[in-house]
Amino acid sequence: MTSSADLYCVMGNPVAHSRSPAIHARFAELTGEAIVYERRLVPMDGFAQGVRDFIAEGGRGCNITVPFKTDAPGLATECSERVQRAGAANTLTLRPDGSLYADNTDGLGLVADITRNAGVSLVGRDVLLVGAGGAAAGVLGPLLLAGVRHITVANRTLAKAQALVQSHSTLASLQKSELIALTPQALAADFDVIVNATASSLTGADVPVPARVLRPDCLAYDMMYGPAAQGFLDWARRHGATPRDGLGMLVEQAAEAFLLWRGVRPPSAQVLHEMQRAA
Ligand code: ATR
Repeated sequence: MTSSADLYCVMGNPVAHSRSPAIHARFAELTGEAIVYERRLVPMDGFAQGVRDFIAEGGRGCNITVPFKTDAPGLATECSERVQRAGAANTLTLRPDGSLYADNTDGLGLVADITRNAGVSLVGRDVLLVGAGGAAAGVLGPLLLAGVRHITVANRTLAKAQALVQSHSTLASLQKSELIALTPQALAADFDVIVNATASSLTGADVPVPARVLRPDCLAYDMMYGPAAQGFLDWARRHGATPRDGLGMLVEQAAEAFLLWRGVRPPSAQVLHEMQRAA
């Protein structure tokens, strides 16, 4: 690391658990990019000030994690289409003219991990997205753009699933994909790919959908990783599905942010393999 290294960070509350600093440090090492990537804990009511302080210190880009992803678009000068649809951003970039650009690389990361790392095509597939909070909102657009045939958004609070479907209806029509909202109890069909975007495992709650949604050879994906994903992964395995946690999504969303900031695509598959081996 040199004194001329550019400054980046992940900002959240809590943020101590974040693996983003290690991932970006490894990307920098492998690509030869001179960056410093910090972890920044900001008070619950201090996000805007945290971003201003970071920019004043010369910060060039910032990843945003819980609970600030939905606050981030409000600070930006310009938001990507993805952010406008999702209402949430995970990446802020300071441009040379001083403007702040918000993007959301979570969905790109999910799609890259499913299609490239897990080798599962999404084209023409039927997908169940469980949850309708910020995490689900961040991935719905990219899933539609990946060429799926159908997406059901299932959430215990139906109105939130309906709102998410509504904000993506134009994109779904353009993509010629079917997009509907249901409660988990109303799910009658089965699916090729299931994405759990709730934090149900964290609270020890049951998996929020019935096992009948799992088609034989279904990919059952939890956007969480580590202990938070375990309940869902065990359930999927018990019912004959192929389980996958969100570690690959984490690495791939970081790779998209790194590309945005540095113009260089890091070797994300290599870094994912290293992290899986170390786990
Ligand atoms: P995030 O940013 O992680 O998505 P969020 O916006 O609070 O967090 O959304 C949490 C999601 O997980 C919601 O879809 C929530 O369902 P509701 O909209 O009905 O609240 C869902 N969720 C959380 N705990 C759950 C549980 N125990 N069972 C089912 N769904 C749960």
